[in-house]
Amino acid sequence: MTDKIDVLLYGLGAIGSFYAFILSRSNRVRLTVVARSNYDAVKANGITIKSANHGEHTFRPDNVVKSPSEAAPQDYVVCAHKALDQAEVAAKLKPVVGENTTFVIIQNGVGNEEAFRNLYPKASIITCVTWVGAIQVSPGVVHHTKSEDMQIGLFPNPALESTTEQQRLKTFVSLLDAGKTVFQVLDDMQPQRWEKVVWNVAWNSLTTLTMVDTQTWLHSSEDAEPFTRRLMQEVIDIARATGVQLSDNLPNELMRKINAMPGIGSSMQTDAKNGRPIEIDVILGFPVRKAREHGVSAPYLETLYVILRAIDGRLRAAL
Ligand SMILES: *[C@@H]1O[C@H](CO)[C@@H](O)[C@H](O)[C@H]1NC(C)=O
Repeated sequence: MTDKIDVLLYGLGAIGSFYAFILSRSNRVRLTVVARSNYDAVKANGITIKSANHGEHTFRPDNVVKSPSEAAPQDYVVCAHKALDQAEVAAKLKPVVGENTTFVIIQNGVGNEEAFRNLYPKASIITCVTWVGAIQVSPGVVHHTKSEDMQIGLFPNPALESTTEQQRLKTFVSLLDAGKTVFQVLDDMQPQRWEKVVWNVAWNSLTTLTMVDTQTWLHSSEDAEPFTRRLMQEVIDIARATGVQLSDNLPNELMRKINAMPGIGSSMQTDAKNGRPIEIDVILGFPVRKAREHGVSAPYLETLYVILRAIDGRLRAAL
């Protein structure tokens, strides 16, 4: 008999490593991490976190593996990988999915849950939006700024008892509590996911296509800010067509938030600069598909999506 909770973390980048650290603080967790490019470093030295909020820590996960096929079925499978091909990753995770597995999705985007629900219709899915700011400065070494917040909630499964799902959520939440991170549990996560997508559609796409930072973009011409607001409004209209109510004031709030920051790039811009594929399907592709499905006009979004797909194609072809 063991009362350990088996947790596997897939996607050991900066965000994944941060939450691996949080989970490793609970003595109830038996933590397995799937490490790819940083496997040798993490296997040899563990993971080091230098955090403005939590201090400096080095920890060793219970297991470090190269692939899910080296691990057994888990209680929780935390997906913190970049959402480039959700269906492919969902299939790869088969060896770690058992009768009672719950997925925990910590990614940008909307529609991220679909591939997992389709392939594992009896699994629970917990869906999260994170605001953690962190970078992996060298393999297995992550710097975390002060920025730390997360919203978490169920992506309800009609095939399961709600009490079962609530219990699974409660258990995972108790692990985050033990790990002393900041989060809020929400009944309905979709408004939160779409709100962050409005932000990501604007800043990720525009900084990637222009290769300038947000402030340089906004001051590039008198048309840049109205363009950005139109783009945000299209995504808000699409969210509403799918039944997700976002506030009319959201573009104002997001403009205030971006103007309170120095000019910033984006994760998509960094990926493009480094010749890596970009996360466009869950950020732009899903909203475009929903716009077409519901007959919502979204010409700015569609234009950016089509051009970014060509850029992504070039990046992938050069790999
Ligand atoms: C899954 O949960 C049920 C109900 O708690 C339990 O009876 C069953 O043994 C569990 N299955 C596995 C593989 O742990």
